[in-house]
Amino acid sequence: MKQPEVVTPASGKLAVLLPGLGAVSTTMIAGVLLARRGLAEPVGSLTQMGTIRLGKRTDAKAPRIDDFLGLAKLDDLVFGAWDIFPDNAYESAIHADVLTREHLDVVRDELEAIRPMPGVFYPEYVRRLNGTHVKKGETKAEMVAQLREDIRAFKRDNGCTRAVAVWCGSTEVWVSANGCHHTVESFEEALAHNDPTISNAQLYAWACLREHVAFANGAPNLAVDFPAAWELARREGVPIAGKDFKTGQTLMKTVVAPALKARMLGVRGWFSTNILGNRDGEVLDDPESFKSKETTKLGVLDYILQPEIYQSLYGKLFHKVRIEYYPPRGDAKEGWDNIDLFGWLGYPMQMKIDFLCRDSILAAPIVLDLALLLDFAQRAGWSGIQEWLSFYFKCPMTAPELYPEHDLFIQLMKLKNTMRWAMGEETLTHLGHEYY
Ligand SMILES: NC(=O)c1ccc[n+]([C@@H]2O[C@H](COP(=O)([O-])OP(=O)(O)OC[C@H]3O[C@@H](n4cnc5c(N)ncnc54)[C@H](O)[C@@H]3O)[C@@H](O)[C@H]2O)c1
Repeated sequence: MKQPEVVTPASGKLAVLLPGLGAVSTTMIAGVLLARRGLAEPVGSLTQMGTIRLGKRTDAKAPRIDDFLGLAKLDDLVFGAWDIFPDNAYESAIHADVLTREHLDVVRDELEAIRPMPGVFYPEYVRRLNGTHVKKGETKAEMVAQLREDIRAFKRDNGCTRAVAVWCGSTEVWVSANGCHHTVESFEEALAHNDPTISNAQLYAWACLREHVAFANGAPNLAVDFPAAWELARREGVPIAGKDFKTGQTLMKTVVAPALKARMLGVRGWFSTNILGNRDGEVLDDPESFKSKETTKLGVLDYILQPEIYQSLYGKLFHKVRIEYYPPRGDAKEGWDNIDLFGWLGYPMQMKIDFLCRDSILAAPIVLDLALLLDFAQRAGWSGIQEWLSFYFKCPMTAPELYPEHDLFIQLMKLKNTMRWAMGEETLTHLGHEYY
């Protein structure tokens, strides 16, 4: 990654393309439409609410992040989506039951105008859904071609100068990357042969990369997380990031675990369970889709606690994660954690965290931030994996030789220092020796 000499200004309209027009997407879109009119605040969005300190503490210089980076304005965003159901954004939002009519009806016309393009859907990757609004094609290569045409048409019809995409589609069953995922050529050949290890999400991602549309992956699928995609992204100069939005339970885990480790407190067990009743919960009720989620949720503690180094503190840690589909709760998820820890001389203690959160309310600002920051990355001339965006993900993508950084506050420091560096400001070490 090179320090940009100049970041191309954000002029003109930015297309924000969303594969998946469900709870998260519609909550984000409705929120942006309301915020544009000054009817609600984009709470939870670092780009819209956050500031960044520049220089010394005594300089008292802390501009808003969106001003500092010159991010695209909310007024300049144009939303497009694909879904395997034909519901427009208003109907889908009503179905998702996250926002009230009081909020949705104010922006009803604008939401109704957002009608999803037919999705690419091979049902074996999401077994709980029966999509009807789908493209037809003989091969996966043809499907990619149709998606590429959608992207071009959307940009043209909406007068957009640039486009970014954030995967907000369902979590797919776990499919490992194999031989065909190694190089751009082997992947393209496999597309033509309908290789069963290429999932729906990968088709969208490939179409985006080919169309120079930056792509972030909000689910645990390997949408852009395989060697051929990394290579194509570098080759074509497209930024990519993933995977799986870090919203509720994992957000808390990546705050609490670093705190316990910072104080060298031991952890013997960590049991995490969730109850949720939205469509995402229904999809995750399929053990194969859950397996994808489990993989991204489980990795976190190992990387933070480093049991191989701190054997006596974390070597015997038992970590279990469950997600239970429980319709009465809808989107109002409950994430519950029991932590069995120990302190001085091994004396045991317990901590319980009961996060009565709202899934899509936490995810929506992340989608917005990712769209704006990926657009920034593209204008800065950056390509390939954007590790500085780890802050937003449960399972951050990194260069193959690196382990992911999960600690939320290290991620935040990296994010903000990358912003400073990109804009030619000094990075902060927080050393502060010059004051004493
Ligand atoms: N809300 C959170 O806190 C959170 C956190 C991390 C990750 N996620 C992930 O974000 C994604 C979206 O979550 P959600 O709550 O909006 O789910 P949702 O079920 O409400 O929406 C997903 C939408 O994707 C559509 N879809 C599925 N396959 C598709 C395809 N091939 N092409 C186009 N559309 C397709 C579905 O029809 C649905 O409308 C899920 O993968 C979820 O696991 C959400």
